[in-house]
Amino acid sequence: MLIIFGFSCKQDTKIKENSTEPEPSDYYTESYRPQFHFTPEQKWMNDPNGLVYSNGKYHLFYQYYPDSTVWGPMHWGHAVSKDLLTWEHKPIALFPDKHGLIFSGSAVIDKENTSGFGTIEKPAMVAIFTYHDMEGEQSGKKDFQTQGIAYSLDDGDSWTKYDGNPVIGNDGIKDFRDPKVFWNDKEQNWTMLVVAGDHLQIWNSPNLKEWKKVSEFGKEKGAHGGVWECPDLFPLKIEGSDEEKWVLLISINPGAPNGGSGTQYFIGDFDGTTFTTDQTENKWIDLGRDNYAGVTYNDAPNNDRIFIGWMSNWDYARDTPTEKWRSAMTVPRKLTLREIEDEVFLVNYPLDNMKGVEDKVTSNSQIELKKDQNKIIPLQYGNQSEIRFMLKNPEMKMYFSNGAGDSLEIGIDRKNKMVTFNRDKSGKTDFSEKFAGGLQKMAMSNLPEETLEVRMFLDHSSIELFVNGGQYVMTNQIFPNEFYTALTLENNSSGELKINDFSELKIERIWD
Ligand code: FRU
Repeated sequence: MLIIFGFSCKQDTKIKENSTEPEPSDYYTESYRPQFHFTPEQKWMNDPNGLVYSNGKYHLFYQYYPDSTVWGPMHWGHAVSKDLLTWEHKPIALFPDKHGLIFSGSAVIDKENTSGFGTIEKPAMVAIFTYHDMEGEQSGKKDFQTQGIAYSLDDGDSWTKYDGNPVIGNDGIKDFRDPKVFWNDKEQNWTMLVVAGDHLQIWNSPNLKEWKKVSEFGKEKGAHGGVWECPDLFPLKIEGSDEEKWVLLISINPGAPNGGSGTQYFIGDFDGTTFTTDQTENKWIDLGRDNYAGVTYNDAPNNDRIFIGWMSNWDYARDTPTEKWRSAMTVPRKLTLREIEDEVFLVNYPLDNMKGVEDKVTSNSQIELKKDQNKIIPLQYGNQSEIRFMLKNPEMKMYFSNGAGDSLEIGIDRKNKMVTFNRDKSGKTDFSEKFAGGLQKMAMSNLPEETLEVRMFLDHSSIELFVNGGQYVMTNQIFPNEFYTALTLENNSSGELKINDFSELKIERIWD
């Protein structure tokens, strides 16, 4: 089996016999292979893990099973990026050992050398993860998940497991996993968030090896339709003010509003030991069906909060119609807190770096449609583009279509405060009964009066929709039988529909 490290396709380029002319590479060209999203070269991937920035590089570790395209004994795969756009594949970072498989977790740079694994001059990268003892689980035990650590002194290329593992044992909690650790500068200690079935536990440590449980959160807060997974907690300033709030992310499976896996958030306060919130309603970072287990980078430059999610859903993750690899990550997104009409929202929005791969191709500065009128816009770049526009009085439907008869339907209805998304006829859906799923709904409870910005990023097997600067977001996988070649805009309002600044931008592939 040929394993290529490095995102450059040059290593994979074949030279024709008796010729020095290279043939075009077939690297990352399989059907449905995302062209500007991260995917492993081959085999199964799920959650992003160990997101940490160090020495000019963003590390992306991920749940990885190198022997199959369905979930199996978990390792940590690894890739790095200088720009969060192009990625270099690295060797597998963490392998299962006598304590178990390596489930989700985080990574930190131990700058003060609290662990003693590195030095102040050359700090260790420390991974904190869940050990999953498969035999223990199969024999009916409840204490099969514990927390372990490992360190790397060469920027994540090679790893040593701590010989005192596990650093946190288990006294009988069936689902006890996904540690997120960060350095709390104010308290001068490490904070760990770890989920325990239906709630969050917070632990503190001076050195990453000895941990003390300090609080719990959430038994009576938030959605509880499934197990809590993949927590994250970080401070953010409300845009345009000096007020700082803490944001807690909790993934939950099942129990998301549109079915299966989803990620909720809480806005509140954290005093170094305890998280509190007076939030009463359930809030979700993304109302599409394919953004799960997302977490943020430790130590990102400029204090930015950069989020990456796994673009799938446990309802059908194992069944999607790809052959060589399975699953992709969302585009990296910046998280901010924004006050809109007296309500504070966690906004998630693509990074500006997307500009680096976008070319403007068509623009229709203004489109006006009378009641019940529609307009068909031919698409130049099918499923490798961004479509964006400004919507004046939005009660409209959009249909992406192709010659194979596929049709993907999106509705934006300000009057009824709702975005709808229907992929039932969008392409291949019959690989799982749960994939199509009928109408997905995203309530837009609170919109400013002004014109709405709509941005849609289409890749070969996904669409990410951002309404009003990332206030309302839907991420979904799609598997069209051919590229979409047309976008129909339909006026569903009682008056005239006005669209400004419509453009289709070609997105270059990142894998050359
Ligand atoms: C979330 C999750 C985590 C777990 C990992 C196992 O998708 O279930 O809770 O650590 O996947 O691969």
